[in-house]
Amino acid sequence: MSFYIGIDLGTSAVKLILTDSTGAILRTVSKDYPLFQPHPHWSEQNPEDWWAAVCAALEELTAGFDTAEVKGIGVGGQMHGLVMLDENGSVLRPAILWNDTRTGKETAYLNDVVGKASLQAWTGNIAFAGFTAPKILWVKAHEPDVFAKCKKICLPKDYINYRLTGVFATDVSDASGTLYFDVAHRCWSKEMLALLGIDEAMLPAVFESEDVIGTTTLFGLSAAVVAGAGDNAAAAIGTDTVNAGQCNISLGTSGTVFLPTDAYVKTANPALHSFCHANGKWHLMGCILSAASCNKWLNETVLQSDYGIGCGKPENALYFLPYLSGERCPHNDGDVRGAFVGLTHTTTREDLQAAVLEGVSFAIKDCVALCPTAIRSATVCGGGTKSKTWMQMLSNVLGIELHIIENEGPAYGGALLAAKQRHAPLVKYTVAPDPDAVAIYAKKYEKFKQLYPMLKAFYQED
Ligand code: XUL
Repeated sequence: MSFYIGIDLGTSAVKLILTDSTGAILRTVSKDYPLFQPHPHWSEQNPEDWWAAVCAALEELTAGFDTAEVKGIGVGGQMHGLVMLDENGSVLRPAILWNDTRTGKETAYLNDVVGKASLQAWTGNIAFAGFTAPKILWVKAHEPDVFAKCKKICLPKDYINYRLTGVFATDVSDASGTLYFDVAHRCWSKEMLALLGIDEAMLPAVFESEDVIGTTTLFGLSAAVVAGAGDNAAAAIGTDTVNAGQCNISLGTSGTVFLPTDAYVKTANPALHSFCHANGKWHLMGCILSAASCNKWLNETVLQSDYGIGCGKPENALYFLPYLSGERCPHNDGDVRGAFVGLTHTTTREDLQAAVLEGVSFAIKDCVALCPTAIRSATVCGGGTKSKTWMQMLSNVLGIELHIIENEGPAYGGALLAAKQRHAPLVKYTVAPDPDAVAIYAKKYEKFKQLYPMLKAFYQED
């Protein structure tokens, strides 16, 4: 019996799964690590913490199994993070993550001075604060001695693959989120490397996601390691979202709407990302920076409850804007912050809960609204799927049927990439929109859309 390991290097934890060659999940292990937010807008993690968590999880995952039979490992990871290494491959500074928005100035320079049209022509995308290129400009400007020592630049999951194999590699789906990768041609962008002042020799070699980059012999293994994928492309493989016309929604720390495409698409509205998929094709994606993490914040930080407080009715006039880390799509605004609007003396905990879940659902609808083709149904994966109440609400807000997926998308996708297999996903349950609730939410969404411009104006006064 052959085994495969899938690794999802997430923002709150690393999740590992062990599958057999039929795709059945035999064991899952998860290990947390800290997130550092030392300044407003900053979001960092220590790559050594990721590696320590991966090592501990790998030992636990394989205990009692014949490690010689582990044939492949595939890693899916949080995208866009900047990992900088010195000449010995040692980490130079904490990784700057996908939801870090310190680079407002650098992002504005790229979009407004270099120009969105050039960026889109060279890379397929415009600049967002969380993308990797503006972070390189930030380090050059603010930490020149770190930049001077930097000999290698990579993405979070590429650092794990580097530690596993000693091979410095990336894959096309993750590289797409750097803004120095030419998505249409699946190679580094010469124009962007020249603009950033980085030599291609500092960057990992580019592979397709299923390509084997090396072998790991750590932990008694002798397993091929594939290039892997960004977590959203890995989740799409895990949920079998591989053909045009399909859609996967992921509700983790971030929220994403993922649409496979047959070819590179130059988006009319560049708030939507146009990236390479892990299956040799391409995809479009909308990403909100805070999704299930808003619910976590409300329940754990504010209400200090165990998520058991129920949910208020949609008729109430309370709104939540989920911009706890600023927002990526569609606003591209790292300065805006979250808000409750419509609090009264009668507002209850249940109303706050409902408003948060609605606000995140409306933000997902903002991404769906950018998509060039109508979405008729979607799979949903990620921690947010644990709440059936939320899944019904999301179906009502979007007005489409949702198929809630059993497995953790990105880790399962990683294992499938390693096994070079595809499986129809295991659907836990399906929710269909309720026409009455759809009508109520359609009205409420129109009001929700009026709130961001007001909030934007407020934050622009600073
Ligand atoms: C996608 C994005 C997030 C992270 C989360 O563009 O930034 O979904 O990949 O891990």
